[in-house]
Amino acid sequence: MTWAKEFVELDKSQHDRDSFDCGERELNTFIQTQAAKHMEVGISRTMLLPDCKPLPDGKYPICAFYTIAPSSIGRETLPENLANKLPRYPVPVFLIAQLAVDVEYRGQGLGKITLIKALEYLWEVNAYIKAYAVIVDCLNDGAKDFYLKYGFEVLCEYNGRTRLFILMETVAQLFS
Ligand SMILES: CC(C)(COP(=O)(O)OP(=O)(O)OC[C@H]1O[C@@H](n2cnc3c(N)ncnc32)[C@H](O)[C@@H]1OP(=O)(O)O)[C@@H](O)C(=O)NCCC(=O)NCCS
Repeated sequence: MTWAKEFVELDKSQHDRDSFDCGERELNTFIQTQAAKHMEVGISRTMLLPDCKPLPDGKYPICAFYTIAPSSIGRETLPENLANKLPRYPVPVFLIAQLAVDVEYRGQGLGKITLIKALEYLWEVNAYIKAYAVIVDCLNDGAKDFYLKYGFEVLCEYNGRTRLFILMETVAQLFS
């Protein structure tokens, strides 16, 4: 099986959400039952990489996806040298709310591609509406190690998860 060339927006009529399995029930449930609803009500956007070949019902399996949303963080959660330069307001950020690769495609570089595509998308959005950083709340230690590998840093503990961040100026260096 091979993945398509482009990430596209989740479309219930075209993409087979039920067959997606990244090995994490929370993320499977999200793509299967919540991602489309969250887009309908306007709180996040899910982009995915479909398989090249459709299933017999004409729908395409999902190889990987990411979900993004605007968010904000407390200025005081940032390292002091950064926080001191910011006004005393909540700091606007972009949140990578979800990111996962189907187990069938694991270990082939698709997680890296998906993260780069998510960051590239957010960098493009940043040209129109600014965010200070990109944050992600890690589901487990494996996910944390994955993001740390690509330049994310620990921000704080949030809802029992480690929250990581990468400055938008660092993201910009990757793409500009
Ligand atoms: C984390 C995840 C996205 C990685 O996807 P993947 O396609 O297997 O990753 P890649 O093949 O692109 O690996 C890229 C690099 O990250 C490393 N990596 C991948 N998964 C890792 C993990 N769990 N822990 C540490 N490093 C990891 C790889 O070794 C590779 O490093 P290398 O280039 O030096 O060899 C995937 O395992 C997944 O979907 N997990 C379940 C969902 C999840 O936890 N998502 C994060 C939510 S916060």
